[in-house]
Amino acid sequence: MLEFLRTRTPVRGPKLGCGEGGCGACVVLISKYDPTTDEVTEFSASSCLTLVGSLNHCSVTTSEGIGNTRDGYHPVQQRLAGFHASQCGFCTPGMCMSIFSALVKADKPGAAGEPAPPPGFSKLTSCEAEHAVSGNLCRCTGYRPIVDACKSFAADVDLEDLGLNSFWKKGADRAEVGKLPEYSSGAVCTFPEFLKSEIKASVDNQTNNVPAAIAGEDGWYHPRSIQELHSLFDSNWFDEKSVKIVASNTGAGVYKDQDLYEKYIDIKGIPELSVINRSNKGVEIGAAVSISKAIEVFSDGTPVFRKIAGHLSKVASPFVRNTATVGGNVIMSQRLQFPSDIATVLLAAGSTVTIQTASKMLCLTLEEFLEQPPCDAKTILLSIFVPDWGSDNVIFETSRAAPRPFGNAVSYVNSAFLARTSGDAASGELIVDEICLAFGAYGVGHASRARKVEEFLKGKSVSASVILEAVRLLKDVISPSEGTTHPEYRVSLAVSFLFSFLSSLATDLDEPAKAITPNGISTNGTMNGNGASSLEKQSKVGSDDLPIRSRQELVFTEEYKPVGKPTTKAGAELQASGEAVYVDDIPSPKDCLYGAFIYSTHPHAHIKGVNFKSSLASKKVITVISAKDIPAGGRNIGSSFPGLGDEALFGDPVSEFAGQNIGVVIAETQKYAYMAAKQAVIEYSTENLEPPILTIEDAIQHDSYFHPPPFLAPKPIGDFEQGMSEADHKILSGEVKLESQYYFYMETQTALAVPDEDNCITIYASTQIPEVTQNVVADCLGIPYHNVRIITRRVGGGFGGKAMKGCHVACACAVAAFKLRRPVRMYLDRKTDMIMAGGRHPMKVKYSVGFKSDGTLTALHLDLGINAGISPDVSPALPSAIVGALKKYNWGALALDVKVCKTNVSSKSAMRGPGDVQGCFIAEAIIEHVASALAADTNTVRRKNLHGFESLTKFYGDAAGEASTYSLVEIFDKLASSPEYRTRAAAVERFNGGSRWKKRGISCVPITYEVRLRPTPGKVSIMNDGSIAVEVGGVEIGQGLYTKVKQMTAYGLAELCSDADGLLDKVRVIQADTLSMIQGGFTGGSTTSETSCEAVRLSCATLVERLKPIKESLESKSGAPAPWKALITQATMASVNLSAQAYWTPDPAFVKYINYGAAVSEVEIDVLTGGTTILRSDLVYDCGQSLNPAVDLGQVSSPPIGTTTCCC
Ligand SMILES: Cc1cc2nc3c(=O)[nH]c(=O)nc-3n(C[C@H](O)[C@H](O)[C@H](O)COP(=O)(O)OP(=O)(O)OC[C@H]3O[C@@H](n4cnc5c(N)ncnc54)[C@H](O)[C@@H]3O)c2cc1C
Ligand code: FES
Ligand code: FES
Repeated sequence: MLEFLRTRTPVRGPKLGCGEGGCGACVVLISKYDPTTDEVTEFSASSCLTLVGSLNHCSVTTSEGIGNTRDGYHPVQQRLAGFHASQCGFCTPGMCMSIFSALVKADKPGAAGEPAPPPGFSKLTSCEAEHAVSGNLCRCTGYRPIVDACKSFAADVDLEDLGLNSFWKKGADRAEVGKLPEYSSGAVCTFPEFLKSEIKASVDNQTNNVPAAIAGEDGWYHPRSIQELHSLFDSNWFDEKSVKIVASNTGAGVYKDQDLYEKYIDIKGIPELSVINRSNKGVEIGAAVSISKAIEVFSDGTPVFRKIAGHLSKVASPFVRNTATVGGNVIMSQRLQFPSDIATVLLAAGSTVTIQTASKMLCLTLEEFLEQPPCDAKTILLSIFVPDWGSDNVIFETSRAAPRPFGNAVSYVNSAFLARTSGDAASGELIVDEICLAFGAYGVGHASRARKVEEFLKGKSVSASVILEAVRLLKDVISPSEGTTHPEYRVSLAVSFLFSFLSSLATDLDEPAKAITPNGISTNGTMNGNGASSLEKQSKVGSDDLPIRSRQELVFTEEYKPVGKPTTKAGAELQASGEAVYVDDIPSPKDCLYGAFIYSTHPHAHIKGVNFKSSLASKKVITVISAKDIPAGGRNIGSSFPGLGDEALFGDPVSEFAGQNIGVVIAETQKYAYMAAKQAVIEYSTENLEPPILTIEDAIQHDSYFHPPPFLAPKPIGDFEQGMSEADHKILSGEVKLESQYYFYMETQTALAVPDEDNCITIYASTQIPEVTQNVVADCLGIPYHNVRIITRRVGGGFGGKAMKGCHVACACAVAAFKLRRPVRMYLDRKTDMIMAGGRHPMKVKYSVGFKSDGTLTALHLDLGINAGISPDVSPALPSAIVGALKKYNWGALALDVKVCKTNVSSKSAMRGPGDVQGCFIAEAIIEHVASALAADTNTVRRKNLHGFESLTKFYGDAAGEASTYSLVEIFDKLASSPEYRTRAAAVERFNGGSRWKKRGISCVPITYEVRLRPTPGKVSIMNDGSIAVEVGGVEIGQGLYTKVKQMTAYGLAELCSDADGLLDKVRVIQADTLSMIQGGFTGGSTTSETSCEAVRLSCATLVERLKPIKESLESKSGAPAPWKALITQATMASVNLSAQAYWTPDPAFVKYINYGAAVSEVEIDVLTGGTTILRSDLVYDCGQSLNPAVDLGQVSSPPIGTTTCCC
C-alpha cells in the first residue's frame, strides 16, 4: 500500500522508514465498511506491510486527509506543532495518524448512557494516550513532547503537567483546554458516503458464485471457503515460489520477501478462520482474527485470559497488532521457528489447534502441532482453542524480556507458567498439583515445555531448596542453539522468570538460611517473592506506571525579539500533515529510473563478477552501473573530507570491506531495484590478497594507521611522569571498550539526480554537506563544479550520517544518470543503509591514572585505539574531539598515545556528538574506577576534579574564554550538591538496602563541549511585495535552523519596521542550493545556527543601511512611521539593491568557546532481567542566550540522556 500511495497518488504523508512494520512512519488509518451491517470499523495499520489487494471495501485516511494547508490543519497536527513535537518531521505524519487512530477508537459512539468527555477532550485516557504512539519511532524529539501533544486530548489529564508549548506560558498562564486548538470527535469523515453507496451497489450486483480461482485477474485471489482454497491449490498455476499465501502479510516485516510474487492468495475471507466462540469450556479464536481483536476477547475473561491479553498487548505495536493475525504468528512459529510470544503463552494455557491439511481436518494440542515437522504451504490453521481455567487455585504468569518493553522488539526470552495448586491442610503450604512451564525465543525452534522441571515440581510444595533444584534442572533444558546471540543472558533470563514465578508460590523464603540467588548461590539475606520487604513493596512503583511528567525552566529575554522567543518550529504543521517535501517526496521526473546498491559481503577480495539468480526479480534488472561507467576524466570517488582524504565510490577491482558498493542495479521502480539487487551473486577471489584487518588489535599488529595532520592532533598537557610521582595511588592498566552505533535517521540515504543540458546535473540530496557533495560529484563525473547543482530543502534526520555517507548515494545517482541520460533516484532500504552506513567509531582505550587519597587526580595516560575503517573520512579529527570532552576534568597532567586504525570495515564517520560522546564516556569510566578504588562517592571525586579557571585555561587554551563564562561548577553544584539531590541519593540507598532484585542508582555527569566556529554565508532578499527570501549555507536537519534564521531576519530588519513579529511571518528560508549560495560548508558541530544567523544579521545590516535613508525620507514627509510595504515600494522605485549577502568569518581570536552542562539521572535496574528504567533525569544546560528556547530545549533533551550535545 505504501508504494501504491506514494507512487500512484499525490499522497506523501506516509513515509518509508523501515519497510518492516517497525517504525510507524507509514501509519495510516484503514476504515473497513461492512455493507451488510452498514458499519465502519477503523484501525491504524502500517502501510508498508499492508497489501493493496486486501483493501477491498476499505477507505484509507492519511495525514494529509485529516488536515492540510488548504483545508486547515487538524488539532492533532496543530498540537504536535504547538508542543514542539516535530523536529526533522519525518516521523510526524505517522505519529499524527497513530494519535488520530487512538482518538477515533476512543471516541467511537459507545453504549447509550456512557458519559461524554468534558468539552474539548476525547474519551481517551492519559494511559491510552501514552501508549498510542508506542510503536512509532522518533529519533529526534525524545518523545515527551509527542506524548504531551497526545495527552492533551485525554479527559483525565492534568494540563498543568504538560510540557512547554505555544498555547500557554508555563508557570505564568493557566493551562486550559480552551487555549488548545479545538477538538471535536467525528469532525473527519473516514468513510465517504459515495464509497458506501458504490460498495453496496457492487455487492448487490455480485454474482457471489464466481469461483475465486478465476476471480483474481489482478493476481489477487480471495477464496471464500476451504473448498475454493483447495481448488486454487489444485490449479495448474499454483506454484509455491511465485504465489504467496497471506493473511495480513505482516510476516513480511520479519521474513523479508526474497523475490517478487505474481499472485497472492488471501485466506482471510474463509469464514472458519474468523470465528470467535466463547463457551464455559473456553474460547475458540479463528486463525485470521487479528491480535488486537484477540486482546479484546481475552480481556473480557477469567484471569488466565486476562493475562494472555496483557502479554499480547506487548507484541509488536498497535498498528501491527490491528492487522497481524494470531494464526499467522503461530504458523510462523511452527514453520519458520519464529521466536513467537503468542505460541509461548498459548502453549502454557493448554491450547489446542484445528488444522486443515490437503486431505483432512485435524485437532491437535498446540504442543503436538509445534513439535511436528514444519507444515507445508497447503496446510491451513483454522482456529485455536484456549480452555477456560477458571479462577480457583490457578496461577498464570507470563514474562518477556526484549530490547524495548513496548513495541516492535522480539523477545530475547519469553515464558508463560501455569500452575494449579491446592493447600496442604496440615502444613498450610501450597502444593503444586499441575504445572506447565513454557519457554520460547531463547534460541530454539519454537516454544516448548520444560517437562523435566514440571515433573520435578508436581506434587511438591515450593521451598528454597525446591526452587534451587528446579533452577538447576532448567539450566539443562534451556540450551540456546549454536549462533544464538547472548546465550548466557538468555539462560539467566529463563532462570529469573522461573525463579520469580516459583518465589510467588513459596512460603518459607523469608528464612535467611534458605535464601538463594536465582543462579543457585546461597546467601544469607532475605529475598523477595512473598517475603519482599515492606520497603520494596512501598517503593514498587512499576516502571510502566511511572507518570510521564516534566518541568522546564527557561530563561529568556525580550531584548532581541523575536530572537530569543520560543516560537514554534517553522513548518511544523506542514511536517505533521505530511505535506513537507523530503527528497523522496519530490515527484519523479519523466523517464525516471531507480537504483539499489549491490554491496560486497567480503572484507577483502577481488570482485571477479556479478551474476543474478534466476528469479522474477532478476528480470527487472535494466542494467548495472559500476566503476567502468565513471566518465572519462572522472574519478572513482564517493566522498572526500577536505584535507583528510577520499573514499572510493565502487569497490573496484578489489572490495576492501563488507558493505562496500560494487554496483548499482537500475530498474523501473524502487521496489524492483531493491528486489533485483537481492538476486545478485558476487564472485570473489582472495588470491594474492592479505587477510583483512578487522580490529584495532589487527591494525596495531600490522601498523595500519591513518596519521592525523599535526594541527588536528591533541596535545599532551603538563608532565605525566611528575603527575604520577605525586600520586598516592595508581591504576596502571585500566581498559574501556566502546562499540559502534548506527545513526538511525528515520529517512534513509536518498538522492535524485536529473541530468541537464550541456553536461550539467541537478541533484536533490538529503545531505548535511551540499558543498562537499557538489565537489565530489563533479570530481567523480570529471566536470567543473559549476555544472553540479545540489539542492537540499530538508533532511529527515542527519546525526552526522548524512554527511560523508550521503555523498556516495548522490554520486551513484549522478554516475547512473550521466550514463543513462535519464533521471535516477535512490532511496536506500533500511538494511542496506545500516550495512553501508559505518556509524560511530569503535574504540579500545587503555589508561593509567594517578590520584591522591582525597580523590584529586594527578596524571592520566591514554592509549587511544580508534577503529576508523577503510578511509580517513573524518576520523583524523576524532582524537581531538575525544580529548576535548575528556578534558572536562582536571587530570593534573595528560599524556596521549593515539592510534587511528585503518581496517577493512566500513569507514566510521561523524555520528551525533562524534568523539565527544566517547570522550565523556571514557572520562566517566576512569572517574568511576578511581572512586571505586578509593571506596569514595563518585560525585565527590567528580566535583573535586572539576576545573578551576586556571586549570581550565591550561587544558583548553583560548577556548576557555573569560572566567565569568565558566559555569560548569555552578551547574554541577545546582544539580549534585543540592539538598534535594542528597535527599534523593539517601532514598536510593534506602531503596537498595530493602530491595534485592531491583536496584537504583543516581549519578551526575558534567559535560563540556568545545564549539568551533566556521565561516558561513547568508543572503537576505526582499521581494517587491515586502516578503523576504533568505538563504543560508546550513541545512535544515530538524534542528530548527530555519526557525532561528527567520527570527534573526525579523530582528535584523526590525529597525526598518515597527512590527518585528509581523516581519517574522514575511520571511521564508529557502532550500540550500550550491549554485546560489556558495561556500555553504557543512551542517554539524552544534554551530550552524549561530553562524548562519550571524551571516543573516550582517546581510540585514547592509539592507538597513541601504533602506534607512528612504524610510527617514518617507517619515519626514508623512510624519508617521513608514509602513513596511510602502518602504519597499519606494525602494524598488529608487532602484535600491534589495538583496544583500554576507560571508561571516569568525574573529581569529575567538574561533572556539566552551559550552557547559550537566545531567542527573536516577535509574532502576532489574537485576534478574537486566531491564533498566530511567526514573528521572534533570538536565541543566548553559546555552548562553538562546536564539529560540523551545527549539533549544528540544535539542538538549532529545539526545540520549546524559550526553547533552546536539547537532545544530
Ligand atoms: C514489527 C513487528 C514486530 C513484531 N513483534 C512480535 C513480537 O514481539 N512477538 C510476537 O510473537 N510476534 C511479533 N511479530 C510477529 C507478528 O505477530 C506476525 O507477523 C503476525 O502475527 C503474522 O500474522 P499475519 O496475518 O500478518 O501473517 P502473514 O504475514 O500473512 O503470514 C505469515 C505466514 O503464515 C502463513 N499463514 C498465515 N495465516 C495462516 C493460516 N491460518 N494457516 C496457514 N498458514 C498461514 C502465511 O502463508 C505466511 O507464510 C511482529 C511482527 C512485526 C512486523
Ligand atoms: S513501519 Fe512501515 S515504514 Fe516503518
Ligand atoms: S522528528 Fe521524529 S524522527 Fe525526526
